[in-house]
Amino acid sequence: MVHSSASSTELYNYDIVKKFAIASLVWGVLGMFTGVWIASELAWPFLNFDIAQISFGRLRPVHTSGVIFGFGGNALFATSFYIVQRTCQARLAGTYTTHNFLFIGWNLALVIAAVGYTMGITQAREYAEPEWYVDIMITAVWVVYFWVFVTTITRRNQPHIYVANWFFMAFILATAILHIFNNLAMPVSFTGAKSYSLFSGAQDAMTQWWYGHNAVGFFLTAAFLGMMYYFVPKQAGRPVYSYRLSIVHFWALGFMYMWVGTHHLHWTAIPDWTSSLAAVFSILLLMPSWGGMINGIMTLSGAWDKLRTDPIMMFMITSLSFYGMSTFEGPMMALKEVNALSHYTDWTVGHVHSGALGWVAMITIGSFYHMIPRLWNTTLYNMQLVKAHFFLATLGIILYITAMWASGIGQGIMLREFDEFGNLANTFISTVVMSHGPFVVRAVGGMFFLTGMLLMVYNIFMTICQAKREERASIEQSVTA
Ligand code: HEM
Ligand code: HEM
Repeated sequence: MVHSSASSTELYNYDIVKKFAIASLVWGVLGMFTGVWIASELAWPFLNFDIAQISFGRLRPVHTSGVIFGFGGNALFATSFYIVQRTCQARLAGTYTTHNFLFIGWNLALVIAAVGYTMGITQAREYAEPEWYVDIMITAVWVVYFWVFVTTITRRNQPHIYVANWFFMAFILATAILHIFNNLAMPVSFTGAKSYSLFSGAQDAMTQWWYGHNAVGFFLTAAFLGMMYYFVPKQAGRPVYSYRLSIVHFWALGFMYMWVGTHHLHWTAIPDWTSSLAAVFSILLLMPSWGGMINGIMTLSGAWDKLRTDPIMMFMITSLSFYGMSTFEGPMMALKEVNALSHYTDWTVGHVHSGALGWVAMITIGSFYHMIPRLWNTTLYNMQLVKAHFFLATLGIILYITAMWASGIGQGIMLREFDEFGNLANTFISTVVMSHGPFVVRAVGGMFFLTGMLLMVYNIFMTICQAKREERASIEQSVTA
């Protein structure tokens, strides 16, 4: 079924959406390849070949920035611009230059940051590693992004602002605030790639994790919920299950996420009450998170057969299940007693990837399979490949997170074991030896996931070629007619 008519391609600006979507796939493959590479380095350390630039510590932020901001960020630019235009029935604000400023600015900032990491240039703040000059580039891009998005909404031909747009607006605004405050720093010199944070000690840690968890809350969650609230109903061919619940979801999520940052700092030198506050709000977060998950899954009521027949729907519903799972696991890990076991172990890394691969990557993949053929006014090249991708991705995630539960809980238990004299029973290195098996399984899981991504890239490439062929044929037909 061809969904997008010629008039919708004229009314809306799809060019910039296409560019961001392709960039997202490119970053996805590169970022996940780096993920597989560093996972393999942990399993087989000789793979760093004693080259500093490709050692684990330098490639790790290349992976995290590549997947979160490259794959995820470009996907959010693409889908937010697609959704805001379609739900507002208005053309994207801004000119060709504005849009390309966003596209080039964002991607150039990421390339400069990634090259810097391999050279050892970093602020050493997790998910905010880039130095001040890249931070300034990102701020400029973000202000223009906000202007384009909000101006498009003000030009809408619909009285209502659809809930997905609220999620995107919250994401853009919160990210701006977080980015600016967490990166307040004094450059040492204008030529040297080094700065010092304006914060120090416990305040520094709390600012960083206020940023860090809200990067999860607003970048990796709220924005992808915006994607979910548009594409799940579209793919299901049904309205969202409860629009009222989606509004409650939005306000509760936005309010509660802001308080939980210090659950990353339990049992450290921060005031104890901040730790307790974060634990309480983390438990409360379960409610809106599960409300949202149920809302997404129940949108399929009356169309449950699609779960058997439609591989795109399989991606979307599985992503919602992982959203539910990781937002159950997170609040549990936020309890101080549980965190005493999970922190400093691979359990955290497993939790991260059940959210990152299960929720973020899967909802993006499902949404792209829906959106990309419509952008090019054609149908998907091969649905069987989507099914194969789904099984590879699911198997990859299961291998990844079960391996991390095994190594993480194992590490936690080993590190708190005492002998009869009250000394630690295990050395750190013995936990590393124990983790070797799970590290191998995780690397294999990552390879499955990456193989699925390569199938997707091939499928999308062939879809675009097919669209070009169809366009040529229709031009030839109209000329001869
Ligand atoms: C092929 C798929 C992937 C593989 C093999 C992979 C592998 C890894 C590895 C080995 C680490 C380092 C863990 C450590 O420090 O011990 C890591 C960290 C991380 N990855 Fe991935 N990754 C993949 C996909 C993704 C995706 C798609 C995202 C986000 C959308 C993501 C987000 C992260 C984050 C946030 C961390 C930091 C975790 C923490 O500090 O606890 N990864 N990944
Ligand atoms: C209600 C929702 C959630 C809560 C309460 C929560 C809670 C937690 C907790 C307690 C930790 C471990 C902190 C530590 O010991 O250092 C953690 C780590 C993490 N979570 Fe979640 N989580 C939630 C959902 C998610 C989702 C959906 C994602 C991904 C999309 C995610 C991504 C992460 C990341 C990236 C980290 C690792 C941060 C780091 O140390 O580098 N979380 N989360």
